[in-house]
Amino acid sequence: MTIHVPLLSVPIDGSVKHLPYADRAEDLIDTANEAVEAFMLADLDVIENFVTCDFHLLDQTLSWIHSNHLLTGNRFCEWGAGFGVATMLAALRGMQAVGIEIESRLVHQAEQVAATIGSSAQFYHGSFVPRGVSGLAEISGEFKNVDTEEGDVYAEIGLELDDFDLIFVFPWPGEEEFFEHIFAACAADGALLLSYHGREGMRLLRQSL
Ligand SMILES: C[S@@+](CC[C@H](N)C(=O)[O-])C[C@H]1O[C@@H](n2cnc3c(N)ncnc32)[C@H](O)[C@@H]1O
Repeated sequence: MTIHVPLLSVPIDGSVKHLPYADRAEDLIDTANEAVEAFMLADLDVIENFVTCDFHLLDQTLSWIHSNHLLTGNRFCEWGAGFGVATMLAALRGMQAVGIEIESRLVHQAEQVAATIGSSAQFYHGSFVPRGVSGLAEISGEFKNVDTEEGDVYAEIGLELDDFDLIFVFPWPGEEEFFEHIFAACAADGALLLSYHGREGMRLLRQSL
């Protein structure tokens, strides 16, 4: 029998919005925003599930997490990386950072931005949804903006989901439960799940110790 221990909420205080950006973060964000704009204006099929989060708030939140010594280790993963800006912001802080993205065109874009700014971030084409998560099949049908069909890429990365200390995701509204279910089922004790919720900002959860 699986016993579900609830994830612990770690409140992020309002001071986060006053923190300075990391060195080179603004260059990275400007470079990525220009690339996103060019990609959107190009004559390509629209990728409906792709929208970007607030990169500046994300950088400040990463600062807040570091300065409050909340991390249990140095490995970062972005679930649904898009242009990979979160992954690159984590790499700027010296984290071993990987981004997983299902759309190959976006993986290519993320790799181009990483090459432009000289980032050590690594990107993988495939799904972050691990195979065989108990109870996931029952709820996944309700979630339209996350691809649950493709195979996961953890073997290719050479790391399991429970090797990561901080995971970032930007869920579509109403789909948070899907990501929290995977995190609760698979993440290491003490690992953090950071998520972006539009006007509500960032939310931080910890896997119970
Ligand atoms: C809302 S966008 C967020 C992009 C980026 N994280 C950001 O905050 O700017 C969600 C991304 O998840 C990707 N995605 C959806 N299902 C996925 C899956 N199973 N595995 C990997 N990426 C997925 C989509 O293609 C899309 O690029």
